[in-house]
Amino acid sequence: MWSLSEQPTRGKVITPNRGRDVPLPLACTLTLADRQYSAVYEGHGQSKVAFRLDGAGGKYDGKMLKVICPAKPDPECETMKHLAALDCDVCVSIFMEGELKYRNQVLPAWICDYAEPLDKYLQRPEADHNRCMTSKLMCILRAAESQCVVSDVGDYNFGVVSDESKVVILDMGSRGLQEERPTKGKLTTQFWSNFLKYAMASVKNEEDNTQLVTLANVYRDAWSIRDALLKLELSWMTRPCCHNREERDRADYSESSSSGGEEEPTQASKLHTPPTRAMAWDCEFYEEDEFISWYDSNEEFNESHEFTMILMSHLSTLVDARCQKPKSYG
Ligand SMILES: Nc1ncnc2c1ncn2[C@@H]1O[C@H](COP(=O)(O)OP(=O)(O)O)[C@@H](O)[C@H]1O
Ligand SMILES: [Mg+2]
Repeated sequence: MWSLSEQPTRGKVITPNRGRDVPLPLACTLTLADRQYSAVYEGHGQSKVAFRLDGAGGKYDGKMLKVICPAKPDPECETMKHLAALDCDVCVSIFMEGELKYRNQVLPAWICDYAEPLDKYLQRPEADHNRCMTSKLMCILRAAESQCVVSDVGDYNFGVVSDESKVVILDMGSRGLQEERPTKGKLTTQFWSNFLKYAMASVKNEEDNTQLVTLANVYRDAWSIRDALLKLELSWMTRPCCHNREERDRADYSESSSSGGEEEPTQASKLHTPPTRAMAWDCEFYEEDEFISWYDSNEEFNESHEFTMILMSHLSTLVDARCQKPKSYG
């Protein structure tokens, strides 16, 4: 059994986020079978407390200890493991589960990956609101297609992975594994108004707002969760990351290189098109709908390449693989 004991904070000020009182010390020592880690409070909610681990060279350095406190049955870990086994790529990885002794309590706990909570990440100047919201929505939809509905879609229950390549779910909540996949209509009543509420609260400018409207329209117009996912995957693949750092770098590059001389023949200036646009075979950039209809309507192209079919079948396979197929049948 693992154990947790209080550690002096050594003058470091740790400020808990709001909500209920933190039921565990903010700085602790975690003792596993073979090593001790310092465990420093990172966040807490209604049922769990999350600590960041540091074992000076231990294999869980930088990972998170999550503790359900007070102890109670919680489907969270099972749900996360179900989603991880399906390889649908929507949650933080869980490395190890255990029971944790703290004073006279025995608490369910696990060690999982760290992902910067989305509410914090969105405060960074380089955070790309549209990319973050698209990735967050894809997580919710992929999880639903895998029979799991996120209970609370607040940004604090999602995180951005360390290479900033996607958003993942940190807290699935209490709903557990559903008997069947929800329909889009049912899912919409369960999460959509809160999703929009949080998304609107974090828009920073008019462009974020416009892109949020586009995202909402994509979801609204889809006739099923799967259909929404197909469209979102397509838009996501045009730029699969949560920040707009490259866009800024490109803008700097363009400013310094445009000060004299002719335009480069690389079409680099077209890379400044908004991230909702993607380049089709004719090297022009299109909005998502135009992009799809370009391939639908270009007969000459379709006859010779059957590209639409290939593209759509790739996307279907991708969505299928992430939503349905177990990683192994062993
Ligand atoms: N894997 C993680 N990486 C980084 N921060 C986390 C992680 N898991 C949880 N947190 C932080 O701890 C808070 C509480 O954890 P959470 O699982 O949401 O508990 P609860 O079920 O009580 O809401 C989260 O809102 C988030 O800020
Ligand atoms: Mg939570």
